[in-house]
Amino acid sequence: MISEKNGVFELSNSEISYILRVNEYGFLENVYFGKKIEYTESIKNSTVGRGHEIHPAGYPNAPAIGNFAFEYSTPFRGDYRTHAIGFSYEKSGIRGDDFKYSSYRTIEKDFSSPLPKCRGGQTLEITLKSTCGLEVKLFYTVYDDVNAVVRSALIENFSNGAVELNRAYSFNLDMPNDDYDLSGLFGAYLRERNIEKSKLTRGIKTIDSKRGESSAIANPFVALSTFGATEEKGDVYAFNLIYSGNFEFNVELDEFDGVRVNGGVSSFDFGYRLDRGESFETPEVALVFSDGGFGKASRTFHDLYREYLINENFVKKPRPIVINNWEVTAFDFTEEKLKRLADVAAETGMDALVLDDGWFGNRNDDTTSLGDWYINEKRLPNGLKPVSDYCHKKGLKFGLWFEPEMISPVSNLISRHPEWAVRSPDVTPCLGRNQLTIDFSNPDVTDYIIDIISSHVVNDGLDYIKWDMNRPMSEYFSSSLGSERQKEFSYRYILGLYKTLKTITERFPNLLIEGCAAGGCRFDAGILRYCPQIWTSDDTDAFYRENIQYGTSFCYPLSTISNHVSASPNHQTGRSICLESRANVALLGVLGYELDITKFNESEKNAVRQINERYKKDCKLILEGDLYRYNKEGLKVETVVSKDKKQALLKAVYGLKGLSVSANRVKLVGLSSDKKYKVVETGEIYYGSALINRGFILPQAKVDFDTFIFRFEQTE
Ligand code: DGJ
Repeated sequence: MISEKNGVFELSNSEISYILRVNEYGFLENVYFGKKIEYTESIKNSTVGRGHEIHPAGYPNAPAIGNFAFEYSTPFRGDYRTHAIGFSYEKSGIRGDDFKYSSYRTIEKDFSSPLPKCRGGQTLEITLKSTCGLEVKLFYTVYDDVNAVVRSALIENFSNGAVELNRAYSFNLDMPNDDYDLSGLFGAYLRERNIEKSKLTRGIKTIDSKRGESSAIANPFVALSTFGATEEKGDVYAFNLIYSGNFEFNVELDEFDGVRVNGGVSSFDFGYRLDRGESFETPEVALVFSDGGFGKASRTFHDLYREYLINENFVKKPRPIVINNWEVTAFDFTEEKLKRLADVAAETGMDALVLDDGWFGNRNDDTTSLGDWYINEKRLPNGLKPVSDYCHKKGLKFGLWFEPEMISPVSNLISRHPEWAVRSPDVTPCLGRNQLTIDFSNPDVTDYIIDIISSHVVNDGLDYIKWDMNRPMSEYFSSSLGSERQKEFSYRYILGLYKTLKTITERFPNLLIEGCAAGGCRFDAGILRYCPQIWTSDDTDAFYRENIQYGTSFCYPLSTISNHVSASPNHQTGRSICLESRANVALLGVLGYELDITKFNESEKNAVRQINERYKKDCKLILEGDLYRYNKEGLKVETVVSKDKKQALLKAVYGLKGLSVSANRVKLVGLSSDKKYKVVETGEIYYGSALINRGFILPQAKVDFDTFIFRFEQTE
């Protein structure tokens, strides 16, 4: 619900309030964000006497500017905290101005740009005007059924000349400190998205990416939580940017215990020129409040993204169980081998064959051919069609790997279009995995990619694409942009990526595109708008993988987390884990396989058939249910509870087997207390109240990395 009275805006649902007001000096301030409260005019922001400070222009006796809880903060006007916008007027060199409240209206959101946006809800637009001609429109979307506020900004130039933006964040939020801890999802390639918490201390903590991708190093996610917050208790404010490129979040604790959180597109190498009448649109950011710890915050993100962001053609549909040939053959496959994989896939209840890297150009290793998206005739003399037809006859879908954003220095494409590679003129470019990025900020490039992918979809009968991206960016340069616009490159690149994904998904609504960036180097909500699932990591060792999936679930729904059962011993870690446990780890998400199933004996085939049958039965619950986590040293438990609470599925994953260890009791807090539940695997009956309050006792690990699955079904 959105209401306005005397310059006070209340955005609320039955659980949260987000309150803004226009203050006496015309600035838009935040009054409150958190658990639902009732507003009266007595609620005012506190101001403290600050010596040696600056006052609003024209109001020398007003409280110092540093007191104000700005909804969009500006530099050079007495607010010394991190600002949300930075600009310079070309003619005058002016870099500081006040942005004051002008007007508001409720609007229908504009979905014409390819920037991913949340659907639904109600949207408030507030316009702030500056003296010199820049205007900022702030957008706030609120939902009756999700405890989130989705924000973004549009910056428009109404002055007589050009303005360069050097920062244009999506949001700014000022609130009082409440002894907060700060958490983020940090990692690296092969060890993505581990939740790390530390005390919020004085100064500025910046979480960012300058890699051209949202990155495995720091996900565009940050959370503030009250001291001691757990999975189920405590207040959590969590922020997630719906964007796939360079970003930054700043969390600042100031000298009077004010907390400022802001962020958006990174200001690293950012300069966006606005000629008169032009505008800049920021990505959206989701602001979530939970009074039920990190678990409730995660469930809120999951609901928001499943209901209102992720590609609606797939989000609630069962996903195909794939066999992917990468960890089976790498580049060394033949038509025959692919057909044998398809045979066993069909026999064991899988749904799709995905042909990975190596089917195109002269690609036999990772040194050539990216960009040459035509058949590698040495490897597949009959082309792709026979494999695709074979799959379709067997009732399987057929998927194909592309790395559309890349070009190899050894490729036909680069000979034809040297200007399409991202590199600075006269400077030797840096390579990553022997390749260069192709310039997605150039519409000629994206048109070419859209056409070539479309022709494969049609001619080779593709049902599925794996969209890979295997190097971060280094040089930020586009031959299609003039020298005065080079600092627009990284933002325009991501817009080009979204435009390409949008066009392809609209043209082929039944084509499932799985996101991938060397595994999980670009796992973000922006990609999820178009790709309902993302290959979570190149780390396929079930034990390590569990940590990655667990961390990923802090923000992203299980329905987006793509996992494959790989070979044992694992080719990366050498660790041996039994098939059942590898499958159990992969189960909570989108299940697939990436091992040589043609070598399965009958008993392995039977086991996999059963795993797949069971997954198909559990799939709706896994993709649509509410997730509850429990974590202690050596044990991770994830329980998915259906929205109607009639069913639940618990997965427990142990680390090293201990001796003389205590019992593990997990409280299944998501169940209905007054209903009885049957444990399918044991036949035991419990009241929900007992499982919630006394807990469910897990079996001890019998071996290292043991796993258990239990299903709970309401009996009355
Ligand atoms: C990186 C991906 O994450 C892998 O799954 C595989 O597709 C390789 N690229 C292929 O080059």
